[in-house]
Parts: sequence; structure tokens; C-alpha cells
Amino acid sequence: MNIGPFEPARHDRTGFSCGHAGLDEYLRRYAGQGIRNGLVQVYVAADDGGRVLGYYTLSAASVRHEEWSDEARRGLPKYPVPAVLIGRMASDARAREAGLRVGSRLLIHALKQSLRAAKILGVRCVIVDSKPDAAGFYQRFGFLPLQPGSPRLYLPVGAIERLAGQGA
Ligand SMILES: CC(C)(COP(=O)(O)OP(=O)(O)OC[C@H]1O[C@@H](n2cnc3c(N)ncnc32)[C@H](O)[C@@H]1OP(=O)(O)O)[C@@H](O)C(=O)NCCC(=O)NCCS
Repeated sequence: MNIGPFEPARHDRTGFSCGHAGLDEYLRRYAGQGIRNGLVQVYVAADDGGRVLGYYTLSAASVRHEEWSDEARRGLPKYPVPAVLIGRMASDARAREAGLRVGSRLLIHALKQSLRAAKILGVRCVIVDSKPDAAGFYQRFGFLPLQPGSPRLYLPVGAIERLAGQGA
């Protein structure tokens, strides 16, 4: 399995199915347009034949002061703090059945890309707007809700550096 930038002409996503029709359709129809318009970078996990096994999107984002819980906003400025947004993430259902751990591999790739970004511009944390049934997946990597019960989860860059130091 290779993970790298999405190339619409090369990557076959016709059979991609993650269980959420909107996430499937995004990859088939809109991902290329999003890249061209400077809205996202899209990364795919693909097999040797170019068949897509999973994907995620990354974008620049910011978190407003009032979005943080009282505890998490301590020491932060009143203005929005810079973040990297994992806007979408999905693995193919058959790849999940085969135990390929595509989601973990993609998330680790996304965190490494975010660390690279944090070396050249200010990035406080990585955020993701989790679907209710996927929050547990992100929490395994240390993501926490911005507010109790919030679908928006975050992982500070410092925590990612520690994960990377442990060889994640
Ligand atoms: C969420 C998703 C990306 C996870 O990908 P995956 O390929 O299943 O992930 P992995 O196989 O690497 O799983 C890693 C671990 O997380 C666990 N896990 C997977 N999905 C989980 C979930 N939804 N909730 C809690 N734990 C989950 C796995 O059981 C595995 O546990 P283990 O280490 O004990 O074996 C995938 O299930 C998916 O695409 N779901 C549909 C779309 C979706 O909800 N995307 C998220 C949008 S925010």
C-alpha cells in the first residue's frame, strides 16, 4: 500500500465504498476540483494497481477562542489560533474487512504532514470534525473534544511530536 497525493488521472476510485455515500462521492466527483481551487490537499492510500483503499483531506484552518473549553483555552490568545484540518477521512469497507488498517496509516500520514507544515508556519493543533460513530477512532490517537460532547476534536502539535518521537 502506498500513500501519496491524489492523482485523479491515475487513481481508480470507481469502486471506493466506505459506508458513507457523501465521502465516496466527494472522492469520485469533487476532490480534484478542491485541489485545483486551493481548498484541500488530498492524499490517498492505493494498492499497486492504483485502486484507492482510503483517503483524507488536509486544509489550513483556525480555532476561535470561544470554541475551546475553559481548560483548553488557558494560556491561548483571544484571537483564532492556527490549525490543520483533517476535513475528510475514509477507508474502503473491503480494506477494513481485510484488516489492512488503512485508517491508522492514513491518520499517521496526516499527522506527519501536519508536523511538516508546523515546521514552516505556525500550527497549534490538528482538528477533525468527527462523525459520531468515528470519534473513538480518533480518540485512540489522543484526540480530545474542543468542548465536552463536541464533534470537533483536536490534537496539539506537541502531542504529535511526542507520538512521532515514540516512532508512530
Ligand atoms: C473511521 C475509519 C476511517 C477508520 O479506518 P479503519 O481502516 O477502520 O481503521 P483501522 O483499521 O486502522 O483501525 C484502527 C483501530 O481503530 C479502531 N476503530 C476503527 N474504527 C473505529 C471507530 N469508528 N470507533 C472506534 N474505534 C474504531 C479499530 O477497531 C482498530 O482497533 P485496534 O487497534 O484495537 O485493532 C473508517 O472506519 C471509515 O472510513 N469509516 C467510515 C467513514 C468515517 O466515518 N470517516 C470518519 C469521518 S470523520
